Amino acid sequence: MGKKTTASVNKSKEKRLARKQEQYRIADGMSHVTSANKLTDLASLCKELLVYRSNDLDVEMYTQRVKDLDKSVLDWAIDLTERNMKKLYETCAWGWNKEKKVEEMMDDSAWYLIAKEKSGTLLAFSHFRFDMDFGIPVLYCYEVQVEAEGRRRGLGQRVLSVLEKLALATRMRCVRLTALTHNPAASAFFRACGYVLDETSPALEEAAHYEILSKATDSTEAQET
Ligand SMILES: CC(C)(COP(=O)(O)OP(=O)(O)OC[C@H]1O[C@@H](n2cnc3c(N)ncnc32)[C@H](O)[C@@H]1OP(=O)(O)O)[C@@H](O)C(=O)NCCC(=O)NCCS
Repeated sequence: MGKKTTASVNKSKEKRLARKQEQYRIADGMSHVTSANKLTDLASLCKELLVYRSNDLDVEMYTQRVKDLDKSVLDWAIDLTERNMKKLYETCAWGWNKEKKVEEMMDDSAWYLIAKEKSGTLLAFSHFRFDMDFGIPVLYCYEVQVEAEGRRRGLGQRVLSVLEKLALATRMRCVRLTALTHNPAASAFFRACGYVLDETSPALEEAAHYEILSKATDSTEAQET
């Protein structure tokens, strides 16, 4: 075995250091995810965005963990998802599996943002989670669904703004989501709201029916608040 040169010793030291830094980075991200999931009052982090009065809408929003959600509200969210998405799922490799979708929507880690008109009519919701994804802490938007009569009035955009504020306040690195590529309305919507193709999105030849989009949070600002 030959003698190690100073250069090779430095290189292995550098590698060890880089590995340690990566471990710290992941542990740090995980601690933010754990803290976010322990919060009991997300509303206080975004309260200025929870009332939406525009385009003839007078809407109030609230956030809850799935276990605290009223059963009738969860049933409505499942039904709206089916009405909005079933056909789109059926026309791609995923297919529509209601049981699987309900299981996903009722997962313990699910958080909900519910938008309701003053009159009581439920208009829109998002299912989101605080999670580690590809080694970074993210707010993953599993669903954003708006009732047909509530669309093109800025409500979907406001729902995303609330998620972005929550991501910033809880030190998530971005809001990330999966979108079907054959859903042009959603594609136009997310892009209009500033979402871009994420580095984790699969290459076209791997999976043409979906893409991963994201919008970065300004974590520097978050750390200062
Ligand atoms: C996609 C969806 C969430 C958008 O919600 P929305 O409340 O209608 O969106 P907004 O009114 O906030 O739209 C903001 C901007 O996005 C773009 N946009 C929204 N819907 C669009 C559409 N159908 N076609 C083209 N651009 C659209 C526009 O630029 C719009 O601004 P403008 O109305 O001033 O032109 C809603 O249409 C929906 O629930 N669709 C069915 C379910 C779905 O596809 N969900 C997303 C996948 S999980």
